[in-house]
Amino acid sequence: MKKETRQLINTPLKIGNRVIDGRLILAPMSGLTHVAYRELLDSYGGCGLLFTEMCSARSIPQENRYFSPVFRWRDEELSRLVCQIFGSDPEIMVAAAKRVEAEGFFGVDLNFGCSVAAICKKKCGAALLKTPEVAVKMVRDVRNAISIPLTVKFRTGWEDRPDLAVELARRFEGAGSDALIFHPRVAPDRRTRPPKWEYIRHVKQAVSIPVFGNGEVFTQDDCEKMIETTECDGVSLGRIAIAKPWVFSQWRNGSVVEMETYKSNMKQMFFLLNKHYEPTPAIRKFKKMAVYNAALFRFGHSFLKKMSRADDFSEIESAVDAFFDHSPELADRPNLNLFR
Ligand SMILES: Cc1cc2nc3c(=O)[nH]c(=O)nc-3n(C[C@H](O)[C@H](O)[C@H](O)COP(=O)(O)O)c2cc1C
Repeated sequence: MKKETRQLINTPLKIGNRVIDGRLILAPMSGLTHVAYRELLDSYGGCGLLFTEMCSARSIPQENRYFSPVFRWRDEELSRLVCQIFGSDPEIMVAAAKRVEAEGFFGVDLNFGCSVAAICKKKCGAALLKTPEVAVKMVRDVRNAISIPLTVKFRTGWEDRPDLAVELARRFEGAGSDALIFHPRVAPDRRTRPPKWEYIRHVKQAVSIPVFGNGEVFTQDDCEKMIETTECDGVSLGRIAIAKPWVFSQWRNGSVVEMETYKSNMKQMFFLLNKHYEPTPAIRKFKKMAVYNAALFRFGHSFLKKMSRADDFSEIESAVDAFFDHSPELADRPNLNLFR
């Protein structure tokens, strides 16, 4: 990575009335960016901004942080943690955002990007891009209800029309969003076709709030290319951050990572999942995350086969040990068949 790019990703950025200390941020991912993962990420030096998994706005007012599967945090991360909420009703989003603010989070992020059928059927997530007036009202109402930073994560929309995404971006800014996280894919596309990074540039040029680009940034070269070609203010990292939680500090500092870290990382993930969750969900979550770790290696499938049969800590540990005992080879890019 060039010196200037490294400098840029280390430059603080103002989001609303707060400042983040670096431009690489975590993407919210359901089932993946839970409290255990975020503790792991922090152990490698953290990132510019942490995000929860998407949380149902309807549930948030009643949630108990010690029992909720998703609305959970460690006190020490709260000032750098954004809670992503989804819902279909502006009033319910407002109530949730108020609780998020009262708990002391860094900010609130509105999910206008999730295109999973179960979410869209309820007129949540990316479905809101079909009714921009509702989405914009949501941004405005939440803005008027809270004073912490408010961000919007959205996709291109339901048609491959960058002009519509640009128009939406302008309207979100006008309604009071403090930053945008833009994933340039149309909504029905669940990461099968490459994202169209050039659309990020259109969005960036249209607004004056910070824009974070998102989508298939897997290497330092990708990161540099996204920044150079789109002039985005920062980059939101999703799946690669699960596979390599150290990417934020590695790219910021240019440090070298040994194979031993890949192995100890998986063990530490399992330890932290057990710390935060009951054994059954801990094992289930671990298996989900291990797919991203395996995707980094040639023949990662063989490891996953063994892993799928493991159902307690010692079996998982031996599957990890056996895989690394055979000197696995890293692939140039993650295996996209596993990186879903
Ligand atoms: C398993 C999984 C769960 C996801 N859950 C969410 C979510 O809860 N909210 C959201 O806005 N995006 C979600 N996303 C989308 C990511 O935030 C991101 O936009 C996408 O993975 C592209 O970025 P990447 O190529 O860096 O992974 C999810 C993605 C994955 C792979």
